[in-house]
Amino acid sequence: MHDVGVNRTDLSLDSVDHEELYVVRGPRSGITISVAVHSTSSGPAIGGCRIKPYPSVDTAVDDVLRLSRAMTLKCALADLPHGGGKTVATVPDQPLSPSAREALIRDIAETIARLGGRYITGPDIGTTPEDMALIHRLTSGLAFCRPETLGGSGNSSVATAHGVRAALDAAVSHVHHTESVAGLRIGVIGFGSVGRLISESLAADGADVVVTDLNEGLRSQVRRPGLTWTSTDLLRQDLDVLVPAATGGLLTTETAADCRARLIVGPANNQLASDDVAAQLQERNITWVPDVIASAGGIIHAVCREELAYDEPETNARIDAIGVKVTRLLTHASSSGITTLAAAHAMANASEPAPTR
Ligand SMILES: NC(=O)c1ccc[n+]([C@@H]2O[C@H](COP(=O)([O-])OP(=O)(O)OC[C@H]3O[C@@H](n4cnc5c(N)ncnc54)[C@H](O)[C@@H]3O)[C@@H](O)[C@H]2O)c1
Repeated sequence: MHDVGVNRTDLSLDSVDHEELYVVRGPRSGITISVAVHSTSSGPAIGGCRIKPYPSVDTAVDDVLRLSRAMTLKCALADLPHGGGKTVATVPDQPLSPSAREALIRDIAETIARLGGRYITGPDIGTTPEDMALIHRLTSGLAFCRPETLGGSGNSSVATAHGVRAALDAAVSHVHHTESVAGLRIGVIGFGSVGRLISESLAADGADVVVTDLNEGLRSQVRRPGLTWTSTDLLRQDLDVLVPAATGGLLTTETAADCRARLIVGPANNQLASDDVAAQLQERNITWVPDVIASAGGIIHAVCREELAYDEPETNARIDAIGVKVTRLLTHASSSGITTLAAAHAMANASEPAPTR
C-alpha cells in the first residue's frame, strides 16, 4: 500500500490488506476523495463511485476499504476477470451546485487516472451514468455504465434486480421448498431503483409484498395489487423473506437478535455490520444469502456487455447463473455446518474468471 495523501492519526491501518489506498483533497472541489484498490490479482480492480455525506474522513475511509474488499469477493464469485476497488467522496449534507459537482467529478477522474488503469469505476450511490460518461472521457475509458446512447451499458439497476430475483428464487426453493413466490410474505426495505423493481416483480408473481422506505414521499408510488406500504420496522415482522434494498450495515448484533424473517436476500451492499453476525443468523436458523453473490447482476451486465463482448441473451444467462451459485452455496453451508459467509469465501477461492473473447 502506498500514497496515503492525508495524514491520519485515528484510523488503524494495521489490518488493511489492500494493494493501494489514495486519500486526496480534490484541487478543484476541496472535497476529500478516497480510492481503494483491494486486489488486481485477477485483473484491474472494479467498483462504483459513491458520493455522499459521511460523519468524518475516517468513516469514509473505513467504508471505501470495506466496500473495495467486498468487490474482490463479488468479482470472484461472479467469475469476472477483475479484483475489487471503490471510490468514496464525502460531501456536505446540502446538495452541491452543478458547477461544484462537475468540479468534484473532474477531481475524481484525475485521481482515477493516476492509478494508470489498475482501477475502473462505475455508478453507485450519488453518481449516474452521465457522471460515468464524463469520467470515461477524462480517463480514456476507466468507467463502466455510461448511457447506452454514448456506447455504454447504461443504468445497472435492471440487471441488479434480475440477479437478486435469481438469487431469491433459488434461496426460496432451498429454504421454503417451493418453486414459486406466490403466497409468500416478503418485506422489502428500500423502495429505490432496485428495491422497486424487485418488489414489483415479486408482486406480479403473486407474493404478498410489503415495502418501506425512509422517504415517505415514495408511498404514493406503491400502487399495484400485491404491494403494500408500511412505516413499521420490517426487521421485526414475521416474514418468509426479507429483502434489504437500502443502505448497508442493516444486520447488527442487535437487529439480528430481533429479526423474525426466515430468509434474507437482497441487493444492499455490506449488509452485515460485522462478520460475526453471519454466525448469529445461522444460530437463529435465519438463512442469509451474502450480498456479494445476490447483488452481482449489475456488475456482471456491465463487464459482459462492455468488455467481454457478450450479447444480451448470453449476459442474461450469466446473471441467471447467480441462482445456481446460490443453491450451491446454501447446500454447501448446510451440509458443512458453516456460515453462508464462510461458504461464499470458500466458493470465491475456488472460482476461475471466465475467458475474455
Ligand atoms: N443500483 C445497482 O445496480 C446496485 C448494484 C449493486 C448493489 N446495489 C446496492 O443496492 C442498494 C439499493 O440500490 P439502489 O440503486 O436501489 O439505491 P437507491 O438510492 O435508488 O435506493 C435506496 C433507497 O433506500 C432508501 N433508504 C435508505 N436508508 C433507508 C432505511 N434505513 N430504511 C428504509 N429505506 C432506506 C432510500 O430512501 C432510497 O429510496 C444499495 O445498497 C446499493 O449499494 C445497487
